[in-house]
Amino acid sequence: MNAINKILPPLKIGNLIAEVPIIQGGMGVKVSMAGLASAVANEGGVGVIASVGLGYSKSTRYNVDIGEKALRYEIRKARSLTNGIIGVNVMYAISDYERFVKAAIDENVDLIISGAGMPVDLPRYLNGKNVKLLPIVSSIRAFKLICEFWNHNYKRLPDGVIVEGSKAGGHLGFSYKEIIENKAQSLEQIVTDIITIADTYTPRIPVIAAGGVFDGADIAKYLNMGASGVQMATRFICTNECDVHENFKKALLDAKENDITIIKSPVGMPGRVVKNEFVKRMQKGETVPFNCTYHCIKTCNYKTVPYCIAKAMVNAAEGNFDEGFAFAGANAHRCNEIIPVKTLIKSLVDETLLYL
Ligand SMILES: Cc1cc2nc3c(=O)[nH]c(=O)nc-3n(C[C@H](O)[C@H](O)[C@H](O)COP(=O)(O)O)c2cc1C
Repeated sequence: MNAINKILPPLKIGNLIAEVPIIQGGMGVKVSMAGLASAVANEGGVGVIASVGLGYSKSTRYNVDIGEKALRYEIRKARSLTNGIIGVNVMYAISDYERFVKAAIDENVDLIISGAGMPVDLPRYLNGKNVKLLPIVSSIRAFKLICEFWNHNYKRLPDGVIVEGSKAGGHLGFSYKEIIENKAQSLEQIVTDIITIADTYTPRIPVIAAGGVFDGADIAKYLNMGASGVQMATRFICTNECDVHENFKKALLDAKENDITIIKSPVGMPGRVVKNEFVKRMQKGETVPFNCTYHCIKTCNYKTVPYCIAKAMVNAAEGNFDEGFAFAGANAHRCNEIIPVKTLIKSLVDETLLYL
């Protein structure tokens, strides 16, 4: 096949057009900040700043004002570095959800991506602003519910939908049992089902596949199935521009396939991580007593959980892997070099064209 002179179909989300149909997935607690997001946007993709944990630090007691200030700072910084498309990821499960959504809208980000729960009230905060809203779902049921709810209560539909499968990194939208017993529906199946529903709306809702998408063959597979784009996170960790500590990137580079494991996260969801001594200790039932300073997740019962996930994430972001770990997708072991975002996106585009 000849890739010369061919270009990828751009990702269109309303009036937003990303020349490269790749959204860089939001990665919380200081993994995807302005540096990574702007670099991706500059290459024609969609750069996403993850809002959770931007204001966390060991030296200052956290409150939502600090978090909001940090989020506004990152959005403005990203805007100063690119004219491309910048989004913000706000997990529905976090206590600061409403403040962060309002701040992102006030800062006129191009889009908000929200999962880790059902962001049923997301359109409520728009105030007439043209910010695109993309929920993350892991089932056709969740997609239908959000469409019905938004349509009924706000007379609008999602501007796009991220369909996240069980091979994603971070917290997963499946039960621990489904993941461990390999019973979760495949991403291919969920994407196919959701496209059939998304295509019935006018205009059709763009479907974006996420979770384990690693190379051009994967991207082409979903585009050929009718998806409008993909969301990729893990691959962007191993770039020069990724904002996280070098030790985090190294954890992925050093990982072998059987180092990628599933934990029962203290916040009640399964999570995919790179196994290390800390993870092994927690899996054996060890606990790390703590005073909750972040109150990050609405449902976390911090008096009974074995350790603080936010603290573990802050440690990891700062390179301390004795008391932290890296979230990563199922294909993290395939990352074998740290490269510029430009190089990564160019190679992904070239590979994809070979399979389209
Ligand atoms: C380190 C890390 C942190 C993440 N943090 C978030 C987050 O804050 N919010 C969210 O919705 N998803 C989060 N995710 C999920 C990604 O945005 C993305 O959808 C998923 O990882 C895609 O799969 P991939 O990593 O295999 O490409 C995270 C993933 C990783 C690897």
